[in-house]
Amino acid sequence: MAKSYVPTYNVDDFNEIKEGKATILFPKNNEVFYNPVQEFNRDMSIAAIKTWRDLATEVKMERFNKSTNPNKIAPPTNITILEALAASGLRSVRYAKEIDGIDHILTNDLLEDAVESIKRNVHFNGLSQSLVRANQGDAISVMYSYRDKGRFDVVDLDPYGTAAPFIDGAIHAVNKGGLICVTCTDLAILASNNHPETCFAKYGGNPLKAEFCHELALRLVIHSLQQAANRQKRYIEPLLSCSIDFYVRIFVRVHDKPLMVKTVASQTGVVYHCRYCGSFATQKFGTCEEGNNNNHKYHIADAPVVNQRCANCGSKQDIGGPCWLGSLHNEEFVRRMYDNVSKAGKSMYGTQPRMKGMLKVILEELDDAPFHYELSQLCSAVRVSCPPLIKINSALLNAGYKVSGAHTRQGSIKTNAPPKVVWDVMRTIVKETGRSAKITDGSPADVILSHEVQTNVSFAEHKDANPESRRIKLVRYQINPEKFWGPKARHSEAPKAKKPKLE
Ligand SMILES: C[S@@+](CC[C@H](N)C(=O)[O-])C[C@H]1O[C@@H](n2cnc3c(N)ncnc32)[C@H](O)[C@@H]1O
Ligand SMILES: [Zn+2]
Repeated sequence: MAKSYVPTYNVDDFNEIKEGKATILFPKNNEVFYNPVQEFNRDMSIAAIKTWRDLATEVKMERFNKSTNPNKIAPPTNITILEALAASGLRSVRYAKEIDGIDHILTNDLLEDAVESIKRNVHFNGLSQSLVRANQGDAISVMYSYRDKGRFDVVDLDPYGTAAPFIDGAIHAVNKGGLICVTCTDLAILASNNHPETCFAKYGGNPLKAEFCHELALRLVIHSLQQAANRQKRYIEPLLSCSIDFYVRIFVRVHDKPLMVKTVASQTGVVYHCRYCGSFATQKFGTCEEGNNNNHKYHIADAPVVNQRCANCGSKQDIGGPCWLGSLHNEEFVRRMYDNVSKAGKSMYGTQPRMKGMLKVILEELDDAPFHYELSQLCSAVRVSCPPLIKINSALLNAGYKVSGAHTRQGSIKTNAPPKVVWDVMRTIVKETGRSAKITDGSPADVILSHEVQTNVSFAEHKDANPESRRIKLVRYQINPEKFWGPKARHSEAPKAKKPKLE
């Protein structure tokens, strides 16, 4: 039995910071623990855990109601949570106060100071030490130890930098059907081509300098979660994958379904990306031919899907991944979460307008079209000034293709149209506006423009070209706050970060 905590702190030595229903004491001489920009991360996590819990409870109750066993006992619906890297304990305190039906939270950190802070904040917020249990330990050993001691329903990883070293442990520590919430703040590695070798080592795939680098970052992290799960005959299902400010935050459900593990090769692959025009193509590793009674056939995919030079402009291409090419989100989950957040109001979530905006854009995202173009990149490739996005969207829709934005990038164009159709639209724009005199013969722009337009391009405004999230003026993309914005350094003396402005 753990020794009970005897409070010895003097509140005058601390600043009080309120976030959600928590009031946290931060030492006056140490700002290292609190990053206000991460309020959005914590708000989203609370809403995601509640949504996951509602869905999990419905499944349990349905099974219980269907059971004909005369001695059936109603299943427990209270949940357990592990916050493996907890710092001040703010997140756990908020979870305990804002999520109903928690059995207990194990709130862990490596550092003695942090654990002291967790205990202090649990006490100051009037929570019991059996509900929020402070623990000092290395997250990796703690997670492995609970594989035998009893797993958690929710495992939350919110480290400084990469979550890669903690992913295997999290897969071991989470219950069947449970939820893993993962933050990675190392986007300098995940979403650029500065250190591809480091990204490959950590996540098992190449990042790219591409318009869709943030979507690729999500897909690389999911790939590494999936690989870790598959080694344990487990399968992860992405419920919600968010690219936010300077980090990614991903929510996945973990299934014990060996049959699903077999489908992973057909949902994993690489992406080829043209260095000049941004055209891209994906190549999966496997195929899955569906048969009766789950008797599917699995094959190695045909290769390659592109030539060495880009078919549109003749430039060289980069190879990104291996990465996850399946769905980034579960539509039902995101819809339920959006409804819950919309009903909750701003008193529940300080960042509610932004939550609604991001969730709505995610709901509008095409599910089966990995990666995207970006308006200004398409225009600069053929040296025209940017037309309204709605004009390009309309042309693609009028040609019979699907189109959406992506929450990962403002001005993005996701479509199932092949690159040559996208370039037909751009070629038609150039025909309307005139070819730039700066385009030299034989240059990549000249090569793009030398192809015949084969698509029937109409710019008549299409009813679906302007998404609802934009029409009803939700906060779709965030404007960066000006100063001191980004992940907090481990031991920085940085002035207090301002809360971000919303679009
Ligand atoms: C970004 S902070 C966590 C912030 C917190 N989750 C929140 O929302 O307020 C990361 C924490 O991880 C802790 N940490 C780093 N390595 C660890 C390890 N191997 N095991 C446990 N904690 C660790 C650090 O001491 C730090 O407090
Ligand atoms: Zn190209």
